[in-house]
Amino acid sequence: MEIKLQRSSLTEWRESYADALAEQANNPKIAQYLRDSFPSPYTKEDAIAWIQFNQSKTEPAKNLAIIVNGLCVGAIGLLPNTDIHRCNIELGYWIGEAYWGQGIVTEAVQHMIIYTFEHFEVSRIYAGVFKGNMGSQNVLKKAGFTLESTIPKGVIKNGVLLDEHIYSVLRPEVTQEHFKKY
Ligand SMILES: CC(C)(COP(=O)(O)OP(=O)(O)OC[C@H]1O[C@@H](n2cnc3c(N)ncnc32)[C@H](O)[C@@H]1OP(=O)(O)O)[C@@H](O)C(=O)NCCC(=O)NCCS
Repeated sequence: MEIKLQRSSLTEWRESYADALAEQANNPKIAQYLRDSFPSPYTKEDAIAWIQFNQSKTEPAKNLAIIVNGLCVGAIGLLPNTDIHRCNIELGYWIGEAYWGQGIVTEAVQHMIIYTFEHFEVSRIYAGVFKGNMGSQNVLKKAGFTLESTIPKGVIKNGVLLDEHIYSVLRPEVTQEHFKKY
């Protein structure tokens, strides 16, 4: 699977991406804005484990690689919620520092909104952004997300309690009728 966008392509995870993934991901400036489950330092073994984890999953893919000029430079992915929150899905992403500020992630997020509502029975896509992460907030706003709320001291990262901004986008044609069966 390959989704061709103007600035990048989005593909499923492939074994051949391991070296580039480890190289791009091994950066504390990236890890500082992500969950602790994102390894830091990020080794080739971490990259292989991530790729194998995704290859073991069923279609449609929830995690995609961001490819620029044939090189894996980042990641974008979805985390479905469960139980009464199963109509929600969380979006996350990162891109290698050398590629920041080129509009690559904004374009990928815009496409991911369409992909998500096409492939998953959810009514709301959301993303949590740590206070101070202006780049990510700009990405979400440019892609059509709205700031919903701010959770005071909602996350702890690198030993510091931080406010978390919650951004969301709702399925345009969402109706109660549509979701009765789920
Ligand atoms: C946040 C991140 C994904 C942005 O990706 P990107 O491809 O550089 O974003 P874009 O180029 O699409 O930028 C979108 C807008 O934000 C602006 N922007 C990007 N980085 C910025 C920063 N650090 N501070 C302020 N604005 C920034 C861009 O200039 C652009 O606005 P413009 O079109 O008006 O110029 C990337 O910096 C990253 O991977 N950061 C580390 C991991 C992370 O924060 N992930 C998200 C967790 S919620």
